[in-house]
Amino acid sequence: MTAPETPLAAPLADRVVVVSGVGPGLGRSLALRCAAAGADVVLAARNEERLAEVAADVEGLGRRALAVPADIRDETACTRLADAALDAFGRVDGLVNNAFATPPLKDLTEVDLDAVRAGFETNVLAALRLTRLLAPALAERDGSVVMINSAVLRHSRRTYGAYKMAKSALLSMAQSLATELGPRGVRVNTVAPGYIWAPNLKWYFDRLGKKRGVPAQTIYDEAAATTDLGRLPEPDEIADTVMFLLSPLARAVTGQCLDVNCGEWHH
Ligand SMILES: NC(=O)c1ccc[n+]([C@@H]2O[C@H](COP(=O)([O-])OP(=O)(O)OC[C@H]3O[C@@H](n4cnc5c(N)ncnc54)[C@H](OP(=O)(O)O)[C@@H]3O)[C@@H](O)[C@H]2O)c1
Repeated sequence: MTAPETPLAAPLADRVVVVSGVGPGLGRSLALRCAAAGADVVLAARNEERLAEVAADVEGLGRRALAVPADIRDETACTRLADAALDAFGRVDGLVNNAFATPPLKDLTEVDLDAVRAGFETNVLAALRLTRLLAPALAERDGSVVMINSAVLRHSRRTYGAYKMAKSALLSMAQSLATELGPRGVRVNTVAPGYIWAPNLKWYFDRLGKKRGVPAQTIYDEAAATTDLGRLPEPDEIADTVMFLLSPLARAVTGQCLDVNCGEWHH
């Protein structure tokens, strides 16, 4: 398949991308970077106020935005989301499964199994649900799905077991979906960020700094020193990798996992 017409300046020109989990960090960047690349964007999360703000920012970039409040653990809400996207735009070219619920951070020998199970609902099954619902529409457009994973795939530190279990399942699911949907022209890939220099991490480094009696900058410098590039990636830098995988520029890439971590982990 060739796409010589893909404009490098706007790789998602006139495409429609659904982003699940539009939060203040990566979710917001995903919506805005896709819009900057030429896409109209469907925004899903539970917080209506945030959705409205990000929708206004997408429109500020000259693209159309559709905000659909939805809890993606709920089948009916997801069906409503898929229907709303198709009613508004008539097609869907891309899906980014970004939403996540922090699983309990406890050793696996102690963690509450109901809490582990609950984490799987958002982090794994909801992404599968959305992908299944949108698969027919994506198949009509040589569509692309990107799962947002985590560098937790690359280590087995204590208390991260439940998170690693969920994200490992998400990775396996993406690979199997790539095989299942490939014959229908749909690509499925994964992006695995490590640190993301966004509000959550800034707040956390502030807290760590206060606890240790050092400036937050010291915490940043220590973390940055563990990466090849000596800094932490910003949300837009991760979003741009996702945007690439959504675009026809990545038309021969499927079933892959791209780590975006300034070289913290090599894979
Ligand atoms: N932050 C990090 O340091 C980091 C590091 C590595 C990987 N990641 C991955 O990157 C992705 C984004 O992380 P982020 O921290 O930047 O988060 P974010 O994009 O700022 O926000 C994610 C949003 O997901 C939404 N969400 C959660 N449960 C939902 C549900 N049931 N239905 C609909 N929406 C739901 C939440 O919004 P509502 O509450 O409004 O629904 C939340 O704000 C995640 O997949 C995460 O695993 C993050």
